[in-house]
Amino acid sequence: MATSVKLYTGAEMPIIGLGTWKSEPGKVKEAVKAAIAAGYRHIDGAFIYMNEVEVGEGIHDMINDGVVKREDLFIVSKLWCTFHAKSMVRQACEKTLSDLKLSYLDLYLVHWPMGFMAGDETFPLDSNGETIPDKSDFLQTWEGMEELVDAGLVKAIGISNFNRDQTELILNKPGLKYKPANNQVECHPFLCQENLINYCHSKGITMTAYSPLGSPDRPWWVCVCSKADCLYCSLVRMTVYCRAKPDDPSLLEHPDIKAIAEKYNKTSAQVLIRFQIQRNVIVIPKSVTPVRIQQNFKVFDFQLSDEDMKTILGFNRNWRVCAMQWSIKHKDYPFHAEF
Ligand code: A2P
Repeated sequence: MATSVKLYTGAEMPIIGLGTWKSEPGKVKEAVKAAIAAGYRHIDGAFIYMNEVEVGEGIHDMINDGVVKREDLFIVSKLWCTFHAKSMVRQACEKTLSDLKLSYLDLYLVHWPMGFMAGDETFPLDSNGETIPDKSDFLQTWEGMEELVDAGLVKAIGISNFNRDQTELILNKPGLKYKPANNQVECHPFLCQENLINYCHSKGITMTAYSPLGSPDRPWWVCVCSKADCLYCSLVRMTVYCRAKPDDPSLLEHPDIKAIAEKYNKTSAQVLIRFQIQRNVIVIPKSVTPVRIQQNFKVFDFQLSDEDMKTILGFNRNWRVCAMQWSIKHKDYPFHAEF
């Protein structure tokens, strides 16, 4: 079983990465260190996760301790929606690099196809509580991304939360210089993404599965203290577009997943991760708990049978953790399309 997936650029992207969305400040540095100590070489982050300084500290501690070299690691970040104007892409990437204290990223993704009004607010909202679009067009944003490759700030560029048609628009862009190397989308047995995976793979675009465990840690509460430096407000802002609901299904507790896990003497989390890597899909389980971080990496010593893979694919119900309902009227909202 290969432990990495080759990008069209020739780079090897480790098939398991540590997810850092929802990783609380105060915990994520140790999580990154625990992951690297456990053998992870791929860390997935984003500006909007509001923890890149700490992620960078974890990376540098491990480099300084001689555990890894920078070139052993595969570091991913994402361009936030308020920086979609072509002229703003570079400054956004430089902010991430400066927070991480790195001179380059291995992969930089356009986080969403939708551009939001530029400014200090990361989620600019109108009086109806809907995100305020900007005038950008993601094809222009893509040109800004291409410039980052030429400037040596990033080794590869890609997209996230792009549907098939949006991906195709980039591929067919007149004057396209670099095609996307990767599309990172929500993916787990309740949202198997078979069609989008087949499409992207047929175009030489690798896929990454986010929320592979169903993101059970999405908050359901709202903090209303409105203090600028409130940790709870920042956590809520980070996850505001995909708040949990009481009747959300649980993947980790699903009896059918548990039954499969028992057969292999593995945990539900390990089955959910193995399900992705057996489809050649890169997967980024998030955890801030060292024993889980270690457990989630121990998935190379068993193989789900074809029958179990089929059974898991049968759990698909097009259920999304991250539907970004606040942007449903945006011209580039990705989830009206079938896939
Ligand atoms: P924690 O970070 O407290 O360890 P996703 O990757 O789908 O977003 O899911 C992340 C959630 O799953 C977090 O709540 C994380 O908890 C939890 N989690 C991660 N790994 C495991 C595991 N092996 N067993 C149970 N829960 C896990």
